Amino acid sequence: MLGYHRLDWEHLLSSVGYWINWIAAQSQGNGTVTRATAALVDHAFGVWKLNRVEIRAGVENKRSRAIPERLGFTQEGVLRQAERVGDRFVDHVMYSILADEWKARQT
Ligand SMILES: CC(C)(COP(=O)(O)OP(=O)(O)OC[C@H]1O[C@@H](n2cnc3c(N)ncnc32)[C@H](O)[C@@H]1OP(=O)(O)O)[C@@H](O)C(=O)NCCC(=O)NCCS
Repeated sequence: MLGYHRLDWEHLLSSVGYWINWIAAQSQGNGTVTRATAALVDHAFGVWKLNRVEIRAGVENKRSRAIPERLGFTQEGVLRQAERVGDRFVDHVMYSILADEWKARQT
């Protein structure tokens, strides 16, 4: 499953999120999520003409963080206690890529 969390037409930005559920767990580790995320980023810049796409990942979630890193996103910083998981709070790493940066990677 993956999709756009929000679409901000005023500032021309969106954010992408993803997860693999337990039914599809055997699909993990073959690049499907990376390729599907790239398709959403392509659509955001190519069709919607946005300027910025964000991805947020738990600081300790190495597999999740690997996706924006593989796609050339820039790590901007850490959002402290950005997500409540049960009775604890998890810090998020904020990644982003800009339209010009994405286009430069496609050439
Ligand atoms: C986060 C999550 C979606 C990542 O899934 P994933 O299977 O690691 O991601 P991908 O489908 O992009 O696969 C990447 C793996 O395929 C490999 N791969 C093979 N061919 C590839 C290709 N053509 N392109 C990219 N990666 C490729 C990569 O090397 C990587 O392997 P590695 O983990 O051994 O380094 C998954 O771990 C998940 O659902 N976790 C639980 C929920 C979650 O954490 N969601 C995110 C919340 S922020």
